Amino acid sequence: MSAPNPSGWQPTMGDADYADEGFVTASGDRGLLLEEALSFEIGSAEKCGVDLIEPEHEPADALAPFLRKHAPDLPGLTEPEAVRHYSRLSRLNYGIDLGPFPLGSCTMKHNPRLNEKVARLPGFADVHPLQPTATVRGALEAMQELAHWLIELTGMAGVALSPKAGAHGELCGLLCIKAAHDDAGEMRDVILVPESAHGTNPATAAFAGYKVESIPATADGRVDLAALKEKLGPHVAGVMITNPNTCGLFERDMKAISDAVHAVGGYVYCDGANFNAIVGKVRPGDLGVDAMHINLHKTFSTPHGGGGPGSGPVVLSEALCPYGPLPFTERTDDGLVHLVEEDNADEFGHTKAFGRMTAFHGQMGMFTRALTYMLSHGADGLKQVAEDAVLNANYVLRQCEDLLEAPFGKAGPCMHEALFSDTNLPEGYSTLDIAKGLIDEGFHPMTVYFPLVVKGAMLVEPTETESRIGLDRFIASLRHVATRALNGDESLHAAPVLAPRRRLDETLAARKPVLVWKGEDSG
Ligand SMILES: Cc1ncc(COP(=O)(O)O)c(C=O)c1O
Repeated sequence: MSAPNPSGWQPTMGDADYADEGFVTASGDRGLLLEEALSFEIGSAEKCGVDLIEPEHEPADALAPFLRKHAPDLPGLTEPEAVRHYSRLSRLNYGIDLGPFPLGSCTMKHNPRLNEKVARLPGFADVHPLQPTATVRGALEAMQELAHWLIELTGMAGVALSPKAGAHGELCGLLCIKAAHDDAGEMRDVILVPESAHGTNPATAAFAGYKVESIPATADGRVDLAALKEKLGPHVAGVMITNPNTCGLFERDMKAISDAVHAVGGYVYCDGANFNAIVGKVRPGDLGVDAMHINLHKTFSTPHGGGGPGSGPVVLSEALCPYGPLPFTERTDDGLVHLVEEDNADEFGHTKAFGRMTAFHGQMGMFTRALTYMLSHGADGLKQVAEDAVLNANYVLRQCEDLLEAPFGKAGPCMHEALFSDTNLPEGYSTLDIAKGLIDEGFHPMTVYFPLVVKGAMLVEPTETESRIGLDRFIASLRHVATRALNGDESLHAAPVLAPRRRLDETLAARKPVLVWKGEDSG
């Protein structure tokens, strides 16, 4: 029998979801795991959280055309209802402050609270891009300091800070390459991209107007140098190589790749999203890289996820610096890093910029967080970041490779990501079962089915911010779930059973997302 329900509100989870466990609550809540309906379902247009006084005067005639004809169709909630609504929703979410987030390629690491404190200083948080320069000198100096660190750490000549994400940085780098070829009067229309590339690489190359040609991977998960050389020619504008690559491996032939590409007049773009594995250890400029984006929101810890905010500065070699978009930061002969904008571009001889990537300077909040991270770690600390990220990934790899197939495990240590596949699981069990089983263990799953070059890939990136105890807990859970699969435990197919939602039809959700609430018949 169900409990009285005067408002007629229906729990969205519904009885069916709990039926398997033979336990149904009237509210849809389960202990302190609280269900939550949409605000449209809890609130109503008649309800208002505050008592507004009726206006004393009719609005002025000039405003009359702008008066609403109908009340907005928005649900009114009382203040406690509104506060509880968002608090309950936040409890249904999983975040890095709750536990490890081992999403390979995403580098979900702890964001030190010091970063937040500095980013909130009024001189950074309350500035406006249209303020006169004289009133934002401190913020501009922080950007120059950040640029100095990025140039030093990568061994490059200049950096465009403005791109707002990794993929935006890729576009910026390719537009520099295009501008350089245009300037030389060369028509080159092909960008070579390895099979194992992050999806944004070929997408960006196509967006920038290039044809994409794929380079196969070798059996040990790296770019096939011989195959790459065969594809080189005067039509090749450049290559886009992720290093460390998406299999979590260092491209040992990077210098040879760069030399071969330069020999035919092409440029080398490096996807530097995985820079956290080599920061302080390797300078991409020394490997012949001409352009590389750095995901500040990964390597330098600024918050990542939920669609933003991000920041993807692009460092450029001397050859590409002249084409860097404005505003641009570059090192001059006096060794100082200068911020070049339209009004001083002539003074710095920066007259070939291909344009701008954004209206203003980029993500100030990310700049301050990243710079704080750099200054609080120092050069030695950043080196240790890379070492610990690699150590943690190898620990996970070696602790689990007896239960889960590690396709490149025998070839030697990995970099910052441990890669497994589902090829050794019994028939009927797959990567999806392992990922869903981890949710019941209280862990966010690893990246699944990426990179595409490995069947049933599971890419685990623990990051350097997980402690040994934290890693051991994760490993114990991963081993437990893998053992359930290896033993043919049928109940694993039902996982997750302890999460707010059960196993969803992800294909349907991706193909036919219901994004608009249309009342009763919604969905
Ligand atoms: C290897 C790699 N390249 C590019 C990107 C794209 O970065 P963003 O999501 O900031 O656009 C990512 C994203 O995490 C990545 O892992």
